[in-house]
Amino acid sequence: MRRIMYKKSPPSHLRPVPLSSFLFGVCYYPEHWDADTRRLDAERMRAAGINVVRMAEFAAEVLEPAPGQFDFRIFDDTIAELAEHGIRTILGTPTAAPPRWLSAAHPDALAVDAAGQPLQHGSRQHMSLSHPALSEYSQRVTRALAEHYAENPHVIGWQTDNEFHCHFSEDHSGAAQEDFRAFLREKYGQDIEALNRAWGNNFWALTYSDFEEICTPRGLRPCYPNPTQQLDYARFLSWRVTRFQHEQVQILRTFQPRWFIFHNGCFPHIDYRGDFIRDLDFLGYDSYPGFSYDVTRRASDHAYNLDRTRAWSGNFIIPEHQSGPGGQAPYFHDNPEPGEIRKLTYASLAHGTDSILYFRWRTCRYGAEMYWCGVLDQDNVPRRRYEEIQRIGREMAVLGPELLGTSVRMDVGVAYADYDAMEARATMPLGLPSLSNHAEAIHRWFFRGHYAAGCVHPADVLDGLKMLIIPHWEVMDPDWLPHLRDFVERGGTLVLGAICATRDTNNHVIAETPPGFLRELAGVSVEEYSRKNRADQRSWVMKWDDREHTAEGWVEILAPEEGTEVLAAWTARHAAGKPAVTCRRQGKGRVLYVGTLMTEAFMERFGPALVRSSGAEPVLPDLPEDVEAAVRYGDGRELLFLINHADMPCELGAVPEGDSLVGERPSEGRLTLPAYGVSVLRSGR
Ligand code: GAL
Repeated sequence: MRRIMYKKSPPSHLRPVPLSSFLFGVCYYPEHWDADTRRLDAERMRAAGINVVRMAEFAAEVLEPAPGQFDFRIFDDTIAELAEHGIRTILGTPTAAPPRWLSAAHPDALAVDAAGQPLQHGSRQHMSLSHPALSEYSQRVTRALAEHYAENPHVIGWQTDNEFHCHFSEDHSGAAQEDFRAFLREKYGQDIEALNRAWGNNFWALTYSDFEEICTPRGLRPCYPNPTQQLDYARFLSWRVTRFQHEQVQILRTFQPRWFIFHNGCFPHIDYRGDFIRDLDFLGYDSYPGFSYDVTRRASDHAYNLDRTRAWSGNFIIPEHQSGPGGQAPYFHDNPEPGEIRKLTYASLAHGTDSILYFRWRTCRYGAEMYWCGVLDQDNVPRRRYEEIQRIGREMAVLGPELLGTSVRMDVGVAYADYDAMEARATMPLGLPSLSNHAEAIHRWFFRGHYAAGCVHPADVLDGLKMLIIPHWEVMDPDWLPHLRDFVERGGTLVLGAICATRDTNNHVIAETPPGFLRELAGVSVEEYSRKNRADQRSWVMKWDDREHTAEGWVEILAPEEGTEVLAAWTARHAAGKPAVTCRRQGKGRVLYVGTLMTEAFMERFGPALVRSSGAEPVLPDLPEDVEAAVRYGDGRELLFLINHADMPCELGAVPEGDSLVGERPSEGRLTLPAYGVSVLRSGR
């Protein structure tokens, strides 16, 4: 595989975004509005405290109406006008919606779906990232933009493309097939036998004699494809988008090294912890909590989405944050209630956002997103959503500088952000949920219990964590073992879920007894495993202390080694009396092994037993159910966020002393937060 040399250090959940000032802004599309409207926009933005806009990511045809003929006027004028109002600009490379002249000239450059159908011009993301014509176009337009704006002091950074893979990633075009073969040739050093061994191709007579014979795996054609071929295809998809992005990054950095460069994720088939992120200064995450239609879950969904983003590469920015109801052809969100955008903004900050831009400034009146509502409605009348942004703008002027340089406190980490592990599950799900679904179920229990819980990669810095839970990852890298052992020996509680470490990095089932390389650390082996397709029939009931739980999805009978304690046992069927959860003491810590899925029902029953003895405690005691407490710390200060997710006031007791930076002030330890109210308190640390 052609290795690109990425200059950035390995990502970590503790890494703050390296920005010198807090960016508070909006996504702006000057190409949709006339000059008078744009002038008024700049004034209103300034009045709302906005200091940055992002633009141009969908303006391909404005910027280059015909091949090689560039026209930057509208952006030159807008950048200058905004600058007069103290607003700086982030530009996007306009490659997510290439112009019609490109696809017309290169019909074979359209991506092809799994059914063999080429995509069409008419929406966006329709071209193949493997086709040389797209790559040439991308480099040419990036170079033209970079050259034109290199000395413009008001352009401060770039977003590459827009949400790579948000609509489409599994390309089966001729160009993609060729590219896949080239990827495999490099990966296997031109040795087709090495590939045959790695893929286990003597199963179902799949052996290849030449790389030329290999195709991209197209789902059920006619039935289940080889799981290693699928995993390598997933690795290829991430590799090729990384290469596509790198071509742009290289050009941007050559023209102006002071620019920061990010991308807005997170979408399928991209390893945001790998070379993709090492090429960037930080990651962006577009946040639309309005998709959680069940408002009782909105806060926990939102927290989980942000925490898993942080697990990839550390703090991030939000280049698109919901600022109104979003709508596309099949759906339309509820309009956020007064105060809801503000409290979601604070929740975003509490979970690792280091800058925020709202999508979008004003709703467009036409096109596929004419109901994707922004700060202003289609009629351009500033109403309560504008006033709310204005209020946040005033608050950010105080809070922004305090926030930069701090990390998010995490006592309990749920493993996430390993590309191979997630993709391996997708190749062979066996009817089980995704690894993200597992992580989310566990995360939700801790979130509701007011713990400082987040997501983390098992190979990341684990300092400060009291507990690490690895839920049901079949593919785990044996290289992580010393790091995990060290975490436990220094006092951490490691919880391993059923199925862990049962397949190798070729996606083959291991020859050893599970949990393979973790067996010695966990002091347990798995005697028998089974899928549990109907929890209510032939039920396997697990008993832990005086509580019982009917196992869902997967069950295992465990065989503890000498010195390993049995915490819970099965009470039914042929497993009756056999171990179901074990605990091994190692150094100052412990390893728990859980022989079933840690579902929401499991966590409801056994969450308290799982967390007991780990030392993890809720951030504050006795918090009302709908109040979230989170902490950011660093540079000698600690910021406590208290966020009321309820639509009615809440009373808090035992609130610690601290300078009030935003919102309601506590008095003698008591604090009343209004509906959707927020308070941020600062203390020394
Ligand atoms: C994002 C995308 C934007 C816009 C927005 C609302 O995913 O980056 O371009 O489409 O959603 O749908």
